[in-house]
Amino acid sequence: MPRASQLPSLLPFVTLFLTFSSLPNPSTAATDTFIFGGCSQLRFSPGSPFESNLNSLLTSLVNSATYSAFNKFTIYGSSQQDVVYGLYQCRGDLSMPDCSSCVAHAVSQLGVICPSSTGGALQLQGCFIKYDNTSFLGVEDKTVVLKKCGPPVSYDSDLMSRSDAVLNSLSSNGGGYFRVGGSGEVQGMAQCVGDLSSGACQDCVLSAIGQIRSDCGAAAYGDMFFAKCYVRYSTSGDYSKANSDSSHGDQTSKTLAIIIGLLAVVALIIIFVSFISRALERKKNGGK
Ligand SMILES: *[C@@H]1O[C@H](CO)[C@@H](O)[C@H](O)[C@H]1NC(C)=O
Repeated sequence: MPRASQLPSLLPFVTLFLTFSSLPNPSTAATDTFIFGGCSQLRFSPGSPFESNLNSLLTSLVNSATYSAFNKFTIYGSSQQDVVYGLYQCRGDLSMPDCSSCVAHAVSQLGVICPSSTGGALQLQGCFIKYDNTSFLGVEDKTVVLKKCGPPVSYDSDLMSRSDAVLNSLSSNGGGYFRVGGSGEVQGMAQCVGDLSSGACQDCVLSAIGQIRSDCGAAAYGDMFFAKCYVRYSTSGDYSKANSDSSHGDQTSKTLAIIIGLLAVVALIIIFVSFISRALERKKNGGK
């Protein structure tokens, strides 16, 4: 009789394993996926006032992302040399918790990519952060930072006309800083950094759409990232495929899910075997 009570006491562990194995959240993994990053060649000296200003800037970005999808900061020092400017922009469809976790992730990654650089920028799937010791706040910048085009789908005129319609819908004036469009499997989005005026945002988006049309004409997907806005579309309805070569985070969580799943299976087998052997023992004892 006392043996039978061992089984229920193991059940919470099994439940825990199964809960963990369903934990890896595709949306979170996708928002943290790396798209591009870059650093200024100029370096600041460790322990300088600039470094402590940069640290307070990065802290401000992380704190602000808990309640706002965009913010910009200027941290002043005693000398002009120590001033640092920075901002972040979350993708317009992110929840506040996803925005803040994305920005926190980006800040910690940028520290690794750009150690002691006077400027740096990082774009993840869900958010963008940038800082520099020269001001870039409020300035429209249509420099192409990243361009990616998928394989041609020119054999599929339906997909092509849908892509065209989606890009058209993204170009509408008054579309705001975050725009989405869709037609069947074809999805598109545009995002401006919030320091632009709405006129500058519209101009930036129109230029990006023009460039994506000319460069990625009949491609299965297109990514056009300018310094202050981007436009993306995909004919498979899944943007993360556009960056499947850098889906490291997804791989890690998949591996984790498999390992935890295996642990759960092993735990279930152990419980099953002990249950059977106990049943057999009981049968044997009963037979005596
Ligand atoms: C930015 O930092 C670099 C390296 O310390 C320095 O040479 C440059 O003058 C700084 N620019 C401004 C505007 O302070």
